[in-house]
Amino acid sequence: MNYANFLERMHNIQDTYGYIPECEIDKVAREFNIPRSKVYGTIRFYSMFYTEPTGKYIIRVCDSLSCHINESKEIVEVIKDYLGIDNGETTEDRKFTLEIVECLGHCGEGPVMMVNDHIYTHVSKTMAIEILDKCV
Ligand code: FES
Repeated sequence: MNYANFLERMHNIQDTYGYIPECEIDKVAREFNIPRSKVYGTIRFYSMFYTEPTGKYIIRVCDSLSCHINESKEIVEVIKDYLGIDNGETTEDRKFTLEIVECLGHCGEGPVMMVNDHIYTHVSKTMAIEILDKCV
């Protein structure tokens, strides 16, 4: 199996549906002649693949050491209260998904928050709400 082609196919499915639906898992397994378990293993390994629909905006807040010391937990709590969801959940209107994640690569600038592909550093509680309000 050409793993690069397999990953490209998975990305295409993720981009099309916003997640990897069950029916596509079967198709990919047949197409690459691999067991479904291998497709699931890939989905579980890579954080950018989902098996359920996500929000239009995926909010990631780093809680690794550096950000944790800079009180990322408070940012997470503000976001949870504001959106009414917990870690790993999506709002009913499918607008936001919240994920507490490991290091986002800006350790000296924490707390760090990411909305889809955009990184925000030195995030305060007020700033977190302003960022969410701009997601229209
Ligand atoms: S510890 Fe948060 S970005 Fe690295």
